[in-house]
Amino acid sequence: MIFKRILVVIFVLTAIPNGFVSVIYCQNDDSAIEEKINDLLGQMTLEEKVMQMNQRVYGTNANPNNIDLLEKEVEPEIGSLLYRSTSPIYRNQIQRKAVEDTRLGIPIIFGFDIIHGYRTIFPIPLAQACSWNTSLVQKASAIAAKESWLSGLDWTFSPMIDVARDPRWGRVSEGYGEDPYVNSEFCVATVNGYQGEKLSDKFTIAACLKHYVGYSLSEGGRDYVYSDVSSQTLWETFLPPYEAGIKAGAATVMSGFNDLSGIPVTANYYTLTEILKNRWKHDGFVISDWGSIRNLVDQGVAKDRKEAGYKAIMAGVEMDMVDDVYVENLPALVEEGKVPMEVIDEAVRRILRVKFQLGLFDQPYVDVVEETDRYLRPEYIAVAKNLAAESMVLLKNENDVLPIKPGMKNIAMIGPMLKDSVHIMGSWDGMGRSNDTESLYEGMLNEFGKIANLRYELGCDFDGNDTSGFKQAREISKNSDIVLLFLGEKKNWSGENASRASIALPEIQEQLVEILHKTGKPVVLILSSGRPLELIRLNKMADAIIEIWQPGTAGGSALAEILSGKINPSGKLAITFPQTTGQIPMHYNQRKSARPGIGHYQDIPVGPLFGFGHGLSYTDFDYGEITLSKEKIKKDEQLIAEITVGNNGSYDGKEAVLWFVADPIASISRPAKELKFFEKKQIQKGEEMIYKFVIEPMRDLSYVDGDGKRYLEAGDFYLEVGDKKVHFELID
Ligand code: NOJ
Repeated sequence: MIFKRILVVIFVLTAIPNGFVSVIYCQNDDSAIEEKINDLLGQMTLEEKVMQMNQRVYGTNANPNNIDLLEKEVEPEIGSLLYRSTSPIYRNQIQRKAVEDTRLGIPIIFGFDIIHGYRTIFPIPLAQACSWNTSLVQKASAIAAKESWLSGLDWTFSPMIDVARDPRWGRVSEGYGEDPYVNSEFCVATVNGYQGEKLSDKFTIAACLKHYVGYSLSEGGRDYVYSDVSSQTLWETFLPPYEAGIKAGAATVMSGFNDLSGIPVTANYYTLTEILKNRWKHDGFVISDWGSIRNLVDQGVAKDRKEAGYKAIMAGVEMDMVDDVYVENLPALVEEGKVPMEVIDEAVRRILRVKFQLGLFDQPYVDVVEETDRYLRPEYIAVAKNLAAESMVLLKNENDVLPIKPGMKNIAMIGPMLKDSVHIMGSWDGMGRSNDTESLYEGMLNEFGKIANLRYELGCDFDGNDTSGFKQAREISKNSDIVLLFLGEKKNWSGENASRASIALPEIQEQLVEILHKTGKPVVLILSSGRPLELIRLNKMADAIIEIWQPGTAGGSALAEILSGKINPSGKLAITFPQTTGQIPMHYNQRKSARPGIGHYQDIPVGPLFGFGHGLSYTDFDYGEITLSKEKIKKDEQLIAEITVGNNGSYDGKEAVLWFVADPIASISRPAKELKFFEKKQIQKGEEMIYKFVIEPMRDLSYVDGDGKRYLEAGDFYLEVGDKKVHFELID
């Protein structure tokens, strides 16, 4: 054994060009990662350590919100690059410099925002949640990882799991809607898709849970402002998806921009160290958001960049995204004795751990393959299409106007979204290209071109006040059997720093609907947006409404096949559509009211327009009664609940069953009900399926307090599925 070790050392000594001493860390064998990290750390100077804690940008700035960008020459000692090139060759060249031309040969970790696909663009995450199909989302994430890895990436700044309670906030499009459990489940699916079985495998990339934490409750839905979150809500609503992601093995976490009830999250010891590291035992690293360390000065908790750096490192942020605050200030802070060397070592240890886990020391380079083998392969497009189809939500379908009947030969297609292939990709569309994206128009031509007369008019633009197209739109509508109106939001109306004070469509689009409604022809609204919309007026004028979100590369054929009936819609809302903007915040799991049902507005109904879980199908799914294995259970027993769902209509279809638990009386007031499980299954027409939910009391019936302590109280509970409800009791 000793002999073998000596041999390896001699080999590596001769293999390293700079001829440095201790070399355990670069042994290409199974030596434990921690041993390798210790060995490497022991050889690093303070400057080398601090460089590992720094991320800079390589490539062109594609995000206008990433302000003050300085393009710099790459220093090969850098810890990470935010890599905006698509070239695996440049990446390998840069990496070669890091590995071969630096004293210790530490590889760089290359990261980028891959939010819903790299070149094959999948529907936005909010849409993905409406599919209720986590295994499809896992597949999509694995494809995104493979396309990214082959483009030179090791790491994505995704998933975003900020539970969305205010649809004015532009970033609702990037997460999985209003429910903590749904965010948790899709977070796990995404992390598993990106990271695969082993991070060191080819084609896998490290995930980054963001933006830790409470960012989505920014006041008034305005981006970058503070979030006032009670500790109860923090633990009940905002932390659970992060905990789920950490348990699933997410390698990294990003601290957000927001101030959390007085302490910015980038300087928040409680969330970053106490919860994430001490309680949840996360052993990867935290990266700041873009410039969020220097933002501590703007937020008024640090007098200058140096103090900002001090606060961030002491709170538990290990890597500085593009700020250079750490490289500029940490060496002095250590020398002055303010930041202990152990803190720096611990930070570097975490960064190196992820690099070792990714296998970067053993295999620092990515494979270079032809672009045709890298991107948009037919099997990727098929997943993109299925996911787009499963995420579209049929909100309304009066008189079964959809699917379009064979007798409806004259189809009017109107609206600015029809021929677009830019906005339907959504914000954060990676390296997606509109040329690769099938427009809704192309989808319609393929599906209906040979069997119907398709006529097109623009009608109006997305916004503005040019009504000159209305007349022509009315003319072709009058002479058609059905009017399809393709409306919605441009892609930059949602995403980062893209909040809207009103979630209604611009007036011009509403006017167009009004005019076409007056033709008396059936009107179908096809809406593409990055958030729920205010549809209170449009709902009255439309016979059918389908929310297609921003469906990505293959949304055109997915929609067309839903309209023709080839695909039966199966999406359900993972976020509430309020009646009006003024109702915000509105989500299904609000806490119970003192006077149930009567704390209302004078001018609008009390409930939402389309609630969480709403979504229609072309077939009829009939739910039987919920059956329970027992009516009383002890705290350590499981309860098995089942419900039979029959497909009694004339289409095969998929049905997602959503299981809610209500805890009517507890020591603290609880949400009226909470989603605890969901499952989607295919049911052929004339057949039925049994859906089963195994209730684990500690997991499904307990609640947390404002410091994360879990309580399981005996008493009455209700289980709800659709309009079915059963009672059971938890006993001591
Ligand atoms: C700022 C955004 O908030 C974050 O989500 C993103 O990952 C970084 N910019 C990098 O682009």
